[in-house]
Amino acid sequence: MAYRNLEIGHRGAVRTITVNRPDKLNALNRETLNELTLAFAQAAQDDAVRVVVLAGAGDKAFVAGADISQMNGYTAIEAQSFSRTGQRLMSSIERLGKPVLARIQGFALGGGMELAMCCHLRIASEKARFGQPEINLGLIPGFGGTQRLLRLAGRSAALELCLSGATITAQRAYELGIVNRVVAPEALDETVNALADQLAAAAPLAAASILDCVLQGGETSLDQGLEFETQAFALMFATEDMKEGTSAFLEKRKATFKGS
Ligand code: COA
Repeated sequence: MAYRNLEIGHRGAVRTITVNRPDKLNALNRETLNELTLAFAQAAQDDAVRVVVLAGAGDKAFVAGADISQMNGYTAIEAQSFSRTGQRLMSSIERLGKPVLARIQGFALGGGMELAMCCHLRIASEKARFGQPEINLGLIPGFGGTQRLLRLAGRSAALELCLSGATITAQRAYELGIVNRVVAPEALDETVNALADQLAAAAPLAAASILDCVLQGGETSLDQGLEFETQAFALMFATEDMKEGTSAFLEKRKATFKGS
């Protein structure tokens, strides 16, 4: 299907979803949130898709935030619905069951940083900039920023970034554990593609299970998390991919995983 604010690409088992409003630095208006919700639901349902790369069009921004011009006219009730729509989208990305990789070349501010944080891995250009500047607008993050930043980087970083509204460099975001890798701008696509290909070749049911264990584990006690892991580990023994992976190792050949 055709989207007004997104561009969808395919490369083997890698689906690329690009927010495409470069003249507005890819700001997230309601229509874009709805289109992203649909595009991620399609990626989840399509068995041929094993990895999703999320990007922003143009050189300047991944996503520069929620659309301020739209928010400016909202009533509190409309704002509540906008926040819920964004939060539901971001939770659905986090719970996609397939690895989602954020490619961040420029500004990832406000809703853009929140969108990057709900992805499972983040690769940033040295030119990328991060921040939760909502406080400068008399606002607070509304798409999960206070919660995911807390979980990703701890209370100290979450409070510093959200209270100051400051913009930080990719290197600082790396030091805080917010991004996985920082690379030269000219190496960004190569790095993202190589990682996406590597993830796409991995056993999909095992990948889904790892995502589930780690995400659940962040919300439970260690004992509950360990029990969850045991059950998930045992379930892998019912898969063809586990037989293929272990046999391939013993036969000294490369495994081919089918997701069954
Ligand atoms: N919502 C709506 N429009 C936005 C936007 C946002 N979050 N961020 C940028 N834009 C628009 C600008 O209004 C401008 O549109 P115009 O050309 O029609 O005036 C266009 O994108 C380019 O942005 P501009 O501000 O001219 O670029 P810049 O290089 O001078 O500054 C930023 C870049 C990112 C520093 C600046 O755009 C900015 O501060 N954006 C808002 C960031 C923010 O507060 N995000 C959190 C929102 S909750």
